[in-house]
Parts: sequence; C-alpha cells; structure tokens
Amino acid sequence: MEIAVAGKATLQGTIEISTSKNATLPILIAALLSEENIKINMVPEINDVEIVKKLLQNLGAFLVKNDNSLCIRSFVSNIYPDYDLVRQIRASLLLMGPILATRKIVKISLPGGCAIGTRPIDLHLKGFEALGAKIRLTGGNVIAEARELKGNHIYLDFPSVGATENLMMAAALAEGTTYIENAALEPEVVDLANFINSMGGRIHAAGSNIIKIEGKKRLHGSTYTPIPDRIEAGTYMVAAAATGGDLLIKNVIPEHLKATTAKLVESGARVQEMDREIRVQRIGPVRPIYIKTLPYPGFPTDMQAQFMAYLSHTSGSSVITESVFENRFMHTQELMRMGANIKIEGRTAIIKGVPQLSAAHVKATDLRAGAALLIAGLMSEGTTFISNSHHIDRGYENIVDKLNRVGANIYRN
Ligand code: UD1
Repeated sequence: MEIAVAGKATLQGTIEISTSKNATLPILIAALLSEENIKINMVPEINDVEIVKKLLQNLGAFLVKNDNSLCIRSFVSNIYPDYDLVRQIRASLLLMGPILATRKIVKISLPGGCAIGTRPIDLHLKGFEALGAKIRLTGGNVIAEARELKGNHIYLDFPSVGATENLMMAAALAEGTTYIENAALEPEVVDLANFINSMGGRIHAAGSNIIKIEGKKRLHGSTYTPIPDRIEAGTYMVAAAATGGDLLIKNVIPEHLKATTAKLVESGARVQEMDREIRVQRIGPVRPIYIKTLPYPGFPTDMQAQFMAYLSHTSGSSVITESVFENRFMHTQELMRMGANIKIEGRTAIIKGVPQLSAAHVKATDLRAGAALLIAGLMSEGTTFISNSHHIDRGYENIVDKLNRVGANIYRN
C-alpha cells in the first residue's frame, strides 16, 4: 500500500484525537482477567487493535462491536496464542500476564520472532519468576508456569512500560501483595491500572515509581473509556508547526504532552494549552533544538522521528539522542532521500537544517517512521510517495481524512 502526499501544505483547522493505541491494547488484553462482561468505549479503528481482537478471539473470548464500543466476554480456553498473530505486534507479549494469572500456564512465541538478545523481554520474565512462575524457553517459545502466583517485591532494572503492565496484570490476580519498584510512569500504565481497578482490582500509586498491587481472587465486569492518544496528538502538533500552520487539536490531556509542548515552544512555535484542547501555531522561523528521548515524563521515543522530520528544515543544527531504544533511526535514511542532511553517531543524530526538502519515493519502516515521512511530505516541494503505508494504519485512525480536512492533499494508491 502506498500513500501520495502533496507538498507545500499549510495545515489549518481542527483535528479530533482518537483513543490511545498504547492504552487500548493492554486494556483489551486485561479484559481476559475477568469472566464477566467488559465494555470498552471509543475503541480506535486501527490495525493493531484488529490484531489484538483476533488474538482475544483465538484465546476463547467473545467480542461484539456496538458503534465504537467493544463488548468482551472472556474465558481463556487456549494458553498458546496463535503464532501468526503474535508475531505481528510486540504488544502480544502482554497476553502472558492475564493467561498466566487465569490459567497458571502460558506458552507464547517470542514476539516478532526476535531473539531475546535483540528485543529483550528479560524484565517481564524476571518479574513472572518473582511471582512464583517457572520459565522455560523451547523452540522459539517461552513457557511460564506456576502452581499459584504469589505477591512479591519486583525491581525493574529499567522502567519498561510493557513489563510494568504485564506484571500489574499478573499480580492483580496473585495471592498477596506485589510491589513493582522502578515502575514505568507512562499515562498508559496509569490508565491500565484504573481499568483494572474499575473491575475491582486493588492497584495503588500507578504513575509513581513504586506500584502496590493487592491481589484479588477474581475481577468483575466493567465499562471503561481509555485516555486520548498523546502520540497521535503530538504528531499533529508537530505537523502544524512543520507546515507553518495553525491547528486546534481537540480531545487531548495537555498534561500528557508537556515534553512535546516544551520542545515545540523551544523551536519557536506558539502552543496554547486549554482544558481538553491544544492550539499550535507557527509564528516564525524554526529554531534548532536539542532532544533526548527518555521514559515518561521525559521526551517520548515515539515522537522522535516526527521531530526529526520537522527539524530537517531549519537554519541551524539540531541534535536528537535516542536513549530508550537501541536501533530507532531507520527513518533517517528515508528523510535523507528527501534531501535532509542527517549524520548518525551511535545513539545521536545530528540534523543540519536544509532550506527545502524535496519529494521522493520513500518507505515507511515502522509506525512512527511513517508518520515522520508524512510530515516531511507535507513540508517538501512536489509529491512524495510513501510505500508500506500499512505501518501508519497500525496506529493512526483515519489519518488521511483527518489531514485532508485541515488542508492536506493526500491520497491512497
Ligand atoms: C511501549 C510502547 C511503545 C513505546 C515504548 C517506550 C506499547 C504497546 N508500546 O513499548 O510505543 O515506544 O513503550 O515508551 O505501549 N526492555 C528490556 N527488557 C525488557 C523489556 C524492555 O531491556 O524485558 C528495553 C527495550 O528493549 C527498550 C526499553 O526497554 O530498549 C523500553 O521498552 P519498553 O518500555 O518495554 O517498551 P514497550 O512496552 O515494548
């Protein structure tokens, strides 16, 4: 699939943000913790959600879609989720917590078929061991098994979002109290805790670095609406500034966007925060800036690629250091095909601003890289063709329509 983006766009108008992908995926998975009716509202229509829905059905859940709500009734009858689905998204690793908690055994293929060394899941596994599970690795699969899960103190060497979420889900049904120390602080972790608590769970202090989970024997049904997507919002904020535009972005929690807002302001954009809205305007030339990705509340790694596109077209040099993921500069090559001047040194990218980007045929290598290329396409001279655009649809609901309604000219081939 390919997307064509006409350059020299100026985005102006109002964009409504969808529900958070990274909150919805774990929340849908956590529905497996209860056998009663769960209703999740405002589920975004994105490809990653479609894969998780198939995974839940594959495990024995019944799903009914009602407008944009999803009703789920679970009974985990399968402890070995389908490899063809698992390999498509890393979030499928989060199935381990609820399956282990409800069935006391789970078998899962390593996500993406990756070796543990290159995309480690060690923090998840160490945490399950601390809760009493025995871990075996056989033929590309991980098996975790426990007679029963027992609360414990778990210290995470790094505040991994996925590990915090997986362990919170397992501990929610364990016997006794679990403490996750050096836990991730991301808003999506807090949202998952709020959802589990809405099912009768007892999770305290999510959003701080020590989360306390009092295990319950069972969880009941619930109706829940996850938070808005701060990365989708951040992407449109950058697109507004990058195109010299003026966007009112609705359905956001400005508190979740502090790092993105700070960097846009530093680069010369005007950002006005309101109750559930943010307005971004470009009021002058883009100033070069320094960015280092960090766990929340630091600058999000999921916004790094979009900022790189934006900073490609300034009159100075910017520096981006990626400290969360080892290998997350794949978009650089593609931006350079559009005339960007970027040098990578280890985990740092030096972006020397150029007076103009030019359209090219480029490839989306992953979700946020695809978003960066869209922004670059809107800024450049000519029409940019982005192949592998299915990556973009993994995480952005109706992105083509949303952008076209505010002045872009984008179509799918
Ligand atoms: C989640 C988000 C992803 C975001 C990332 C960091 C979802 C579905 N995905 O991914 O969009 O980019 O948080 O904000 O919510 N690590 C280990 N061992 C582990 C687990 C992780 O070393 O057991 C490392 C990873 O390789 C990576 C870093 O920790 O370098 C961060 O990963 P993590 O926070 O776990 O990210 P995800 O939960 O996979």
